[in-house]
Amino acid sequence: MKNDLFLRACRKEKTERTPVWIMRQAGRYLPEYRKIREKYDFITMVKTPELAAEVTIQPVDIIGVDAAIIFSDILVIPEAMGMPYQMIEKTGPRFEKKIETREDIEKLNASGVAEKLRYVCDAVTLTKKELNERVPLIGFAGSPWTLFTYMVEGGGSKNFKNAKAFIFNNPSDAHLLLDKIADAVIEYLSAKIEAGIDAFQIFDSWGGALAKNHYLEFSLRYIEKIISAISDKYDVPAIVFSKGANHSHEEIAKAGADVIGLDWTASLGEARKKTNDAVALQGNLDPILLYANDGKIISETENVLNDYGKGDGHIFNLGHGILPDVEPRKAKLLVDTVKEKSGKYHE
Ligand code: CP3
Repeated sequence: MKNDLFLRACRKEKTERTPVWIMRQAGRYLPEYRKIREKYDFITMVKTPELAAEVTIQPVDIIGVDAAIIFSDILVIPEAMGMPYQMIEKTGPRFEKKIETREDIEKLNASGVAEKLRYVCDAVTLTKKELNERVPLIGFAGSPWTLFTYMVEGGGSKNFKNAKAFIFNNPSDAHLLLDKIADAVIEYLSAKIEAGIDAFQIFDSWGGALAKNHYLEFSLRYIEKIISAISDKYDVPAIVFSKGANHSHEEIAKAGADVIGLDWTASLGEARKKTNDAVALQGNLDPILLYANDGKIISETENVLNDYGKGDGHIFNLGHGILPDVEPRKAKLLVDTVKEKSGKYHE
């Protein structure tokens, strides 16, 4: 691997500077992405390995990030389990039918997802070939809880009323569904590892919607199940990004994460102390700072580096995904600033 800074940081090994990548780095803020997207709808892009590989590599060439993340979506798992969805312009995902009863859960098929999602593994194989060992390739899956919210709400949600009422009123059915999703994710991530990904991230985008006790029972428990099944078979770093779960960094480390992703409301320095510097940390610039002036982007990027402080094991990222109308120049400024200013933290 020509640039393995990201992988070394995942393992808290020595690096000359802090590696950087951006959540949702392949996407609409890049004119080069929009040009392809004009010709194909989102789901076609996800299902066509040549297109997925092309947009996966765009931010490596254009923005200069230290890792690529395979272009796909977390919702391919519910689809492979038997829930087709559409991506509606300016609204987001919509499932044809949502999960309401135990019968609905029993009808879902957790096995055979690797076969149904072969197009993702083909995209991984092709991307690895085209990257030609320039930077590592990250694979990902949604957490069982985050996927559960989409499956029970039938799409995105503001307050997760249906998903949360479901876990409070039907905990045993909820656990049955979460366990089934976890099994599907284990099979899927195993196949992606066999296809060549170098690390994986669990996107638990809505973990923070739950109180701590509910987060531990309905989200982290299943993330732990996935990491432990994968680490029995493979030696590939696991990143856990539970947005808003600032109450549980110690528990996330204990669940087996090699890297904990932080959103911008957490402090890297405090999380580092709480976890006894035992795991790597990823994050956590407020994504809205990419709308600030250049000087502000530079000074706030330095603040994030300084919050983590001296030593290895920090992977720079935003605290959540980059938004579609950010100027690419601003994303590049962020990446260049990390490259330029982070060396002194590794002397
Ligand atoms: O990070 C990357 O560059 C890899 C690609 C990636 C996408 N989705 C592409 C995408 C990743 C890692 C995801 C994960 C994902 N998908 C999450 C978790 C991450 C997070 O941001 O919290 C979630 C919740 C989804 C579900 C999803 N996909 C929603 C709610 C939407 C619509 C909202 C939006 O951003 O438009 C999507 C669509 C989507 N996924 C797009 C992209 C590039 C935009 C589709 C388009 O081109 O029209």
